[in-house]
Amino acid sequence: MLPQQVSDILARKPVGTHIEISGWVRTRRDSGGVSFLEISDGSCLDSLQVVADSGLDNYDREIRKITTGTSIQVAGLLVDSPAKGQEVEVRAERITVIGWSDAETYPLQKKRHGFEFLRSIPHLRPRTNALAAVARIRSRLDHAARSFFRERGFFLVHTPIITTSDCEGAGEMFTVTSLPPEHIKDSGSFADDFFGRRAGLTVSGQLQAEIYALALGRVYTFGPTFRAENSNTSRHLAEFWMLEPEISFCDLACAMSVAEELIRELVRTVLRDCPREMNLFNRFVDSTLINRLESIAGKPFARMPYSEAVALLAASGREFEFPVRWGVDLQAEHERYLCEEVVTGPVIVHGYPKEIKPFYMRLNDDGRTVAAMDILVPGIGELVGGSQREERFDMLARRMAEAGLNEAEYGWYLDLRRYGTVPHSGFGLGFERLVQLVTGLPNIREAIPFPRTPGSAPC
Ligand code: 4AD
Ligand code: MG
Repeated sequence: MLPQQVSDILARKPVGTHIEISGWVRTRRDSGGVSFLEISDGSCLDSLQVVADSGLDNYDREIRKITTGTSIQVAGLLVDSPAKGQEVEVRAERITVIGWSDAETYPLQKKRHGFEFLRSIPHLRPRTNALAAVARIRSRLDHAARSFFRERGFFLVHTPIITTSDCEGAGEMFTVTSLPPEHIKDSGSFADDFFGRRAGLTVSGQLQAEIYALALGRVYTFGPTFRAENSNTSRHLAEFWMLEPEISFCDLACAMSVAEELIRELVRTVLRDCPREMNLFNRFVDSTLINRLESIAGKPFARMPYSEAVALLAASGREFEFPVRWGVDLQAEHERYLCEEVVTGPVIVHGYPKEIKPFYMRLNDDGRTVAAMDILVPGIGELVGGSQREERFDMLARRMAEAGLNEAEYGWYLDLRRYGTVPHSGFGLGFERLVQLVTGLPNIREAIPFPRTPGSAPC
């Protein structure tokens, strides 16, 4: 049987019953022949106070030597706590030390540690309140996203991690090879390689999700994606997770509604189900967080054509690092200005110039923009990128030729337009950026358990 957890005991508070709990000691304090141990098992933000008196047979030998980080098992009676700070506590009848922790070298102390320092100890940082809270929120969001899609008739499709298609065409694909690097350098070819051609880690599951959308109607994929993008910013990772629904018989406006509904549902979920964690972030990370999230959950998102966004930015009087004019891609500074200063909330920008977007987006009737949309959110900028896909064979063939794509390699993608094509749309939601949105964390490296960034993949 599974052991009891602190979360369950604090939710039910079965005072007067015997419980058994295991976890890691946060602190030990001795006072008048009694020791108070704060024990945390990671199941929730709160720890449980354990009171150990000197009558316990290992009191002097062990209990008084317990330090932060030690793992113990406690059996005892749950009682109302006479002291402030907790409603219940455990009167210990037996305490067993499971694993000692060397107090001299254990890097986590009771004080708060900076996130940058914590990144240097990725194997221990989930034991802190903040990083454990992020992990629980992340898990809750994952669950809520899957429920959201299931309740709306979507099927989960596991798209491949190794692929030969560079979906975004941005040349950011990591190569996967079984050959020694010199071999490829010398021969300049992947013909003798494992897959007989150049393969890489996926940058997006979209193209394969489209295959299944044109068979099952409504699908989504959710997995790690990889980009060899040399940008050391607070919102880029080399490995990140993306939620990617792909929907047949659905135009751009339909995809926008799904994305907006999804984001609002996920925000509502954490506000409702993770109040302790949310209070922690509101207190220690960003005091405007909960207010901002309530407003995101409660109001429809603004929508704005790209041309209007560019006009607003140009008329803003702001000195941007990257000047704006029609035709340029929006940078984080522009995206944040739009949602933080213009609309003060999320905004869906749509109808981008075709030159700055990938080949698969549907060309609009004006011939110069595509049916693309990005959802921009305060504090981050782009959270979602999506589009209606080009379903017209001739148009797509032309766009592929313009993009320099090899028709032989992407013939299967054109086939989907040759045999029973349908209008379809989808989007990608960056899961770590979502975690940043709901926690207020300034750096994406705290939003994923093991961040991979240029020059850094420690374990
Ligand atoms: O806008 P992107 O590049 O869109 C696609 O990959 C489409 N194929 C998705 C689709 O239509 N199915 O990426 C989608 C989202 C971005 O809006 C951003 O939130 C996140 O993925 N993202 C990153 N997150 C962390 N680190 C990076 N390097 C990211 N690049 C994109
Ligand atoms: Mg994008």
